[in-house]
Amino acid sequence: MTSFKAGLEDIVALRSEICFIDGQRRRLVYRGYDIGEFIGKATFEEVVYLLWHGELPTQAQLSVLREQIAAAQDLPKELIDLIRTFPRDAEPMAVLRTAVSALGVVDPDANNNDREANLRKSVRLLARLPMIIAYHARLREGQEPVAPRSDLGLAANFLLMLRGNEPDQLETDIFDACLILHADHELNASTFTARTVASTLSDIYSAVTAAIGALKGPLHGGANEQVMRTLLEIGDPERVVEWLDQALENKQRIMGFGHRVYKTGDPRADFLRQFSQQLGEKRGDTRWYQMSRRLEELMFEKKGLYPNVDFYSASTYYMLGIPIDLYTPIFAFSRVSGWTAHVLEQYADNRLIRPRAEYAGPMDLQFRPLAERG
Ligand code: ACO
Repeated sequence: MTSFKAGLEDIVALRSEICFIDGQRRRLVYRGYDIGEFIGKATFEEVVYLLWHGELPTQAQLSVLREQIAAAQDLPKELIDLIRTFPRDAEPMAVLRTAVSALGVVDPDANNNDREANLRKSVRLLARLPMIIAYHARLREGQEPVAPRSDLGLAANFLLMLRGNEPDQLETDIFDACLILHADHELNASTFTARTVASTLSDIYSAVTAAIGALKGPLHGGANEQVMRTLLEIGDPERVVEWLDQALENKQRIMGFGHRVYKTGDPRADFLRQFSQQLGEKRGDTRWYQMSRRLEELMFEKKGLYPNVDFYSASTYYMLGIPIDLYTPIFAFSRVSGWTAHVLEQYADNRLIRPRAEYAGPMDLQFRPLAERG
């Protein structure tokens, strides 16, 4: 048996054709395409198609996918009733996890594990995750839900359903690119979770529900929310040095920095940095961008750490008018494309994922009956 490696660091657990990360060369590749190839050129829907099918769609294939998404953009009544029972202050990630699990209860295809059925379910998940997030977000504010429009893509529709107004072109393009940048990331904790569940031949809803649970943690997807809270706490670019010195003295982990794989920087952060700047300039308020830049410079100087995907997505989402506790649900909305692609790949050539543990407990203890234990 090979030896124990804490956190499975650098352990290769399976073969995949979906995503490649080069942590030394700062590269992220989806199905052979460098991530930079898509930004400003492709829509999120095209990238989703690529992740699921292994090749970019033709115009006709993309139109079919868009129609399928539009057709799936209605929440089952049981789900609406369920969401309405949740307390208004319910944590959005917990709402999403529970609602996605409930989708599996009402889907007639739930236990059909054919590839075609799983593709149909993947479309439903992709169409409905953003609806669930927006539906609950508006409900808790006492506002009526807003229906998606069949002429808009997933990015514009989400901002419309959430805010009640149609985003402009810059907002749409930036949010669409954010969805692309978060779509997949090899064998991260939530994707590994999804594949582990799928490897038992359980259903895709169970796999995605479990993945949402894994993404919720602050060491994974939850960091982007903490980043924005940090920026709000600092409040002013002038205060960054003082705040950081204090935080590092208190041995605090600075959210949005560091990565298990990227050791020379996260390529996604390069795009998100631009988006944060562009939106700041458009709004005439570059405070959050400036503060982030200063923090980035200082973290490199003091700790040699680079920002990860969660760092600049925080100020980008903030300037898109998205409530902070929706940042991680949005991550799930994008990443469901990658999770489902990995689940499809897992089913296609399945082997039960079942690692071993190095036993470190006691041995050969003598059993004493309950009455004899003091
Ligand atoms: N702030 C301060 N110090 C840090 C940070 C940070 N954000 N990240 C790593 N370090 C330090 C650690 O204290 C440790 O120092 P030490 O060796 O002196 O103890 C060293 O860098 C190595 O850290 P590890 O935790 O061993 O690195 P690991 O690969 O396990 O962790 C992780 C990666 C979890 C992302 C870590 O960098 C972290 O906690 N970052 C903050 C949370 C975060 O931003 N998560 C989002 C990740 S991206 C994503 O999931 C979408």
